[in-house]
Amino acid sequence: MRVLLIGSGGREHALAWKIAQSPRLGKLYCAPGNPGTAEVAENVEIKSDDVAGLVKFAREQKIDLAIVGPEDPLCLGLIDELAAAEIRAFGPDKAAARIEGDKAFAKELMRHRSVPTADARIFTKYKDARTYIASRDHPIVLKAAGLAKGKGVIVCDDPADALIALERIMVAKEFGSAGDTVVVEERLVGSEISLLAFVDRDSIYIMESAQDHKPIGDGDTGPNTGGMGAYSPTTLLNDKLIRQIESEILVPIVDALRTQGITYRGVLYTGLMVTTAGPKVLEFNCRFGDPEAQPLLMRLRTDLLDVCEAVVDDRLDRVTLNWDPRAAVCVVLASGGYPGQYESGKAIAGLEATAAMPDVVVFHAGTRKVGSKTVTAGGRVLGVTALGETIPDAQRRAYDACARIRFDGAYCRRDIASKAT
Ligand code: AMP
Ligand code: GLY
Repeated sequence: MRVLLIGSGGREHALAWKIAQSPRLGKLYCAPGNPGTAEVAENVEIKSDDVAGLVKFAREQKIDLAIVGPEDPLCLGLIDELAAAEIRAFGPDKAAARIEGDKAFAKELMRHRSVPTADARIFTKYKDARTYIASRDHPIVLKAAGLAKGKGVIVCDDPADALIALERIMVAKEFGSAGDTVVVEERLVGSEISLLAFVDRDSIYIMESAQDHKPIGDGDTGPNTGGMGAYSPTTLLNDKLIRQIESEILVPIVDALRTQGITYRGVLYTGLMVTTAGPKVLEFNCRFGDPEAQPLLMRLRTDLLDVCEAVVDDRLDRVTLNWDPRAAVCVVLASGGYPGQYESGKAIAGLEATAAMPDVVVFHAGTRKVGSKTVTAGGRVLGVTALGETIPDAQRRAYDACARIRFDGAYCRRDIASKAT
């Protein structure tokens, strides 16, 4: 099978690493990929949002299956264009990807089906949003409705904070046109978890649970990032809660899309807050989480190509997902300064030493090759991921591996997975 994987982050290295293990794989291309994907695939220099370029390449190379990692190409309609060129592709089409690309749309969908989520108001005018926020006396969260690389959400302690955040989104346009519409919602309190599911026309197949760590600082402090680390499974979910999430959230949402003529196929990621009043939706994403994909794919034993093909063909009901019973922990090593300004081009040492560690995989995210050297090239640089008999065991092994990697200004949270220990 000839496969084209699209994307260049830690998630895509994890996907490439997993796909490369399939006995069915003939050739794996990654566009544009990174030095990590280059170890298991052939990187091709086409940007992940170059829809026409990707379709052309897929045609020329007679790709049997395209797998799309990030949200941008999905929201741009890459799947629709590939389908028009008769190329089988894994991921939701443009209409379905809107569940992530437009938080106002997702909110309306949830409201319509009474799916439990934070109470929210949607505004397109700065003045109206300001008046509303000024009238609130509870903590609120402000969200740029469009795509903002996981950074367009500002959790505020009080309305004064929220007014500043509103200005950043709607006046200073910190997130560009993603902030044309803003969602102002109540701040939920509880434990946050990520539940990912494969979805096709007829079925929803929930994966093992995972937990991300969004804020930059230990103890969940500081601004939000794309995700500073993740682990799987979480102890926060039991079977009863998972069934409740399935029946009260996933089934109604997939059905609500269907009544609008939208068939969801791909990975549906639900970010949830488990509150005293039960689980409530924080967000939907239309793809694997990054960094949740890293621990999840380390634990997945089933051939990912089989699963992706089953989704594309609406045969998910005939698939069984098998999981490694061990735990996995991924610690993100980031550039100092991220999610704000940071420097790039710092030489990374220790990659060979960690490559030799059993059940440890260092997934590349923001790296680049300069000659034979690997240097930093992004905010999130590496996702150091380890399997272990227990969460504490996997956590210890991941941090042991982190200790062997060095680059100028390297930063990681020291408490990834600590909530589960
Ligand atoms: P989102 O991208 O919408 O998931 O938001 C990013 C992060 O902000 C989430 O992972 C949560 O940590 C936090 N967050 C979002 N919405 C809320 C909310 N209503 N209450 C509390 N925290 C939230
Ligand atoms: N880890 C959160 C995300 O992928 O959006």
